[in-house]
Amino acid sequence: MSNPWQPAPGRPVEEAEASLTPLESRTVAVIGYGTMGRAQALNLKDSGIRVVVGAREASPRGTLARSEGFEVLSVAGAAAAGDVVALMLPDEAMGSVYTADVEPHLAPDTALVFAHGFAVAFGQIDPGSRPCFLAAPKSQGDMLREAVAGGGGVPGLLAVTDQSPPDTWALCAAYARAVGCLRGGGWPTTFRAECVADQFGEQAVLCGGVIELLQAAFDTLVDRGYDRANAYFECVHELTLITNLLHRHGIDGMRRRISPTAVYGGLTRGPRIIDASVRERMARLLDEIEDGRFAAEFLDKHDHPVTGVRALADKESETGLAAAGRDLQSRLDGLEGLREPDVQPDEESRDER
Ligand SMILES: NC(=O)c1ccc[n+]([C@@H]2O[C@H](COP(=O)([O-])OP(=O)(O)OC[C@H]3O[C@@H](n4cnc5c(N)ncnc54)[C@H](OP(=O)(O)O)[C@@H]3O)[C@@H](O)[C@H]2O)c1
Repeated sequence: MSNPWQPAPGRPVEEAEASLTPLESRTVAVIGYGTMGRAQALNLKDSGIRVVVGAREASPRGTLARSEGFEVLSVAGAAAAGDVVALMLPDEAMGSVYTADVEPHLAPDTALVFAHGFAVAFGQIDPGSRPCFLAAPKSQGDMLREAVAGGGGVPGLLAVTDQSPPDTWALCAAYARAVGCLRGGGWPTTFRAECVADQFGEQAVLCGGVIELLQAAFDTLVDRGYDRANAYFECVHELTLITNLLHRHGIDGMRRRISPTAVYGGLTRGPRIIDASVRERMARLLDEIEDGRFAAEFLDKHDHPVTGVRALADKESETGLAAAGRDLQSRLDGLEGLREPDVQPDEESRDER
């Protein structure tokens, strides 16, 4: 008998080498029809895979799933019906829902799928020796669905637990292809590395560092008497132009497409803002994620009435920056002139700098 399929070492899994065959005779139960569950369920269905959805009683998202053509079962019913069970629940609900309503109903060889490594990496769920894999789209859920519905896809991070049977990689690749996360490659990793890097990126950059940088810069201009609309345009709105350039052309290409004044100011002043002390604090954030302190704190505090997720977000929405965004956003939505122009840089003149 030939060896089970494995990703080739040192390179990502390509869509063309992933066969859908391991999934074709199986039913996928998608438990949780939120942002990511909906995207995965619809993409699986479009790939010809049989899907049922699991939702708690009176779930508004369960109602949506039914209206979008899915058979919707209880969480326990879906766990029993699926040969592959995709747990698309919020991190904080994974452990309790799995213990109460999923695990008791699984057949011994039912496979578990995750879109993020948290539950397995930080001990909320112990899959034991059953097939268990990660297919983490590097995209927000609605954008994943939009990309696949438009004929495209996104890259993904893939992992299989150490105790999974050897044919789990083939199932993982099939699933990743069916949900559309092998475009741009399926990058093998581990549950832990995906989770740690994801949380670090969110905290240090995407949802923490960048947002505080915007707040601080906006406040600095407004406190010095500059108009808040002006401050919002310069410190917040134009960020999307730079991130679009970065996304499409990398750092070098972005620098070639902006003014020399912006390049010089950024390269000489940026390091004064993000200095060695910031890098040191980033390393401490990483320590807290790696040793599980962040996971424990989040699970303990996420629904605290004063310091939990909702309360902190409500407090942020009272800031001047948030208010300026609410005032300006309706005027900015959909304005073509404010999007990144699709122009090539004048390579020669820029390279002479
Ligand atoms: N959102 C993204 O773009 C994104 C990106 C990458 C990875 N992920 C990963 O995808 C997974 C799902 O995240 P998500 O953002 O899609 O979550 P979400 O939008 O918050 O959706 C959660 C779903 O779970 C259901 N649910 C919540 N608590 C439940 C409970 N106790 N019992 C049964 N159902 C419950 C909700 O249904 P109700 O209608 O009943 O409330 C909802 O359908 C997570 O592992 C996340 O890390 C998400």
